[in-house]
Amino acid sequence: MAVIGIFDSGSGGLSVLREIRKVLPSERYIYYSDNAHCPYGEKSAEYIQERARVITRLLLDRGADVIVVACNTATGAAIATLRAEFDVPFIGMEPAVKPAALGTRSGVIGVLATAGTLKASKYLNTKGKFQDNVRIEEHVGEGFVQLVERGELDGPEAERVVRASLQPLLDAGADTIVLGCTHYPFLLPVIERLAGPGVRVIDPAPAVARQLVHILTERGLLNSHSGLDPESPALELLASGDPTTLQRLASNL
Ligand code: DGL
Repeated sequence: MAVIGIFDSGSGGLSVLREIRKVLPSERYIYYSDNAHCPYGEKSAEYIQERARVITRLLLDRGADVIVVACNTATGAAIATLRAEFDVPFIGMEPAVKPAALGTRSGVIGVLATAGTLKASKYLNTKGKFQDNVRIEEHVGEGFVQLVERGELDGPEAERVVRASLQPLLDAGADTIVLGCTHYPFLLPVIERLAGPGVRVIDPAPAVARQLVHILTERGLLNSHSGLDPESPALELLASGDPTTLQRLASNL
């Protein structure tokens, strides 16, 4: 059985865990929320690399066989460093610019992400491959991470915050919105309601889950017997700060 370590700056990575557990229900998971240091979006790459190192060591000490960096910002800032420093497979997030570019009818796609993700070379390279064919409009999801960390996933305040960052993309003609931060899928009902039925919203988490299956299969790490070891919990939740929202969101996955 594989022990899958997964981390994010907060509870956002649970949106990735949710998709992973759909395709890998019989593995063990250790989720680390670095909410004492959240948000990562405005922090320097060096700061995020150091946090990612500390968390990776902790997950490895607890027996992780593979690590999912369930955070676009940390993937952009730190995954290359992690791969260079640790001998364990890392799966990162990839903003879904490709499926958006292939599927748009208006020729305009909108990307919602953190400031850190939008300036990371990983994202800039992806964008560079498609921007000759489609217009790519970007906006930081201002305040989205804070809403999710407060567990405020809907209501008038969530609508106001989401509208402020989404509307400029819709006004630019985007018919496809890429969620480039793992916190944002928790706001999907609000985003879809405000965007309206003609707009497709893409969460890359299912693609990340498929990639993880591929890596684990290749390494022969998948659970070969049905059912979990009754001695060990299927999901262990860890947080550097207050775990209340994490526990609440995880119990509703
Ligand atoms: N969930 C994260 C991401 O995917 C981090 C957001 C933040 O901490 O700013 O980017």
